[in-house]
Amino acid sequence: MTALQHVKLGIYYVVHLPEADDFDFWRERARALVQCEIPPDRIAWVEPSGSGDLFTHGERRMPVPSDDARQVRASKRFVSLARNAILHSEPERFALLYRLLWRLQATPRIMEDKADPDVRRVEDLAKNVRRDSHKMHAFVRFRLVENEDEDSEAGEHYVAWFEPDHHILRANAGFFMRRFANMRWSILTPRGSLHWDGETMSEGPPAERSDAPGGDPMEDLWRSYYASIFNPARLKVGAMLKEMPRKYWKNMPEAALIPELVAGAQKRESAMVEEGALEFEERPDTLATIDKAIHACRKCPIGQLDNHAVMGEGPQDAALMIVGEQPGDQEDQAGRPFVGPAGQLLDMHLEKAGIDRRGSYVTNAVKHFKYVQRGKRRLHQNPGAKEIDTCRWWIESERAIVQPKLVLAMGASAARAILGKTVSIAKVRGQPIPLEDGSELWITAHPSYLLRLEGPAREEQARLFDADLAAMRERLAELSAP
Ligand code: URA
Repeated sequence: MTALQHVKLGIYYVVHLPEADDFDFWRERARALVQCEIPPDRIAWVEPSGSGDLFTHGERRMPVPSDDARQVRASKRFVSLARNAILHSEPERFALLYRLLWRLQATPRIMEDKADPDVRRVEDLAKNVRRDSHKMHAFVRFRLVENEDEDSEAGEHYVAWFEPDHHILRANAGFFMRRFANMRWSILTPRGSLHWDGETMSEGPPAERSDAPGGDPMEDLWRSYYASIFNPARLKVGAMLKEMPRKYWKNMPEAALIPELVAGAQKRESAMVEEGALEFEERPDTLATIDKAIHACRKCPIGQLDNHAVMGEGPQDAALMIVGEQPGDQEDQAGRPFVGPAGQLLDMHLEKAGIDRRGSYVTNAVKHFKYVQRGKRRLHQNPGAKEIDTCRWWIESERAIVQPKLVLAMGASAARAILGKTVSIAKVRGQPIPLEDGSELWITAHPSYLLRLEGPAREEQARLFDADLAAMRERLAELSAP
């Protein structure tokens, strides 16, 4: 923004940040401005442009708080988020943080309001910065450079190239210093560079990719190591690309192998299945163990998609276990079963039948969301019989722990997960089916089926659904009677 634009907008104070990541400077200026009661729309925050800024006289106009100015309130949560958010490359971050600090003075609990747009934006910025740091920790690869000065006693020098999205370089200096304390190294980035000589850290100017070396013999070793630990059964391409974006691949010697290994993964996985390497191990004996295990489970193609496992929920001693098909898009994001549209319809019918959802254990036949990507949308796909059968291990484990008196299976996938075979819902619904462990299975339609219908057909199916639930509810009361 030019000086003239500032004036036209009525901005009276211009704060020039000496560094793009200088939280302490921002905090000191922000405090003084709050104490002088300067509202957010009267301040322009300017970060160093690198090209020199003509409009630098604003700093002279900084107000000075009086001795009896009131204390500035800032919760610990605000400060810790702000420290991270300020490292983001979003130019508006300083103004956003000031606005939030300003609002905090009148509404100290604002940080607890998850729906507040400023709080959410700051949380998002801080999250992006944490991710960027995480990537830097994971993907920086040092390469040995030839020592130009043969007489030098400085020892070997390792250099890494990295392209951070945000201003995270200085904030991560300590991490690399501790981890590679005994090495002489430099990290070069387009935003600046860090140099560690084993004793002191120094900073340098931005660098270019060509300033960093291309490869060294160590990389062959590293590549063979990576190929040997690569487990095709754990490969999730979508998640891998999210975690390890292609832009970092060029710095990572092992990444040269990725396309080849991914292409061969399916073949190798089938070979592993044939060799029995994918057999399940011991049956888990706590729900927490199942929860952990399903998150690591890649035993069918659904687990290879970019999704999360959704564990059943409810009391461990529930008399009723309600089983659906698989988590949908919303369940995948929330990490809880039946929270989307089908869940809301289910809740309504359960309430009508007098069944307490919170007293029941609610779970799914398949633990991961199966979908096809269409643009930005993920469209639900029915799980196949093999996928349901593979996932049966988990629902059987849940049944063994919860030991419900009744199991309500909604839809054909849920029925197959309990019985191990496909049945016709119309033929078996609304009546008890004894199970080997002494419990009873009740089968009904899936609420998503009702959602797909309209008019009289919907009404008729809703009536049948209610009738099934009512009959099961009566049986549950009988079984629970002392
Ligand atoms: N449909 C299901 O079968 N399960 C869920 O958790 C959500 C929708």
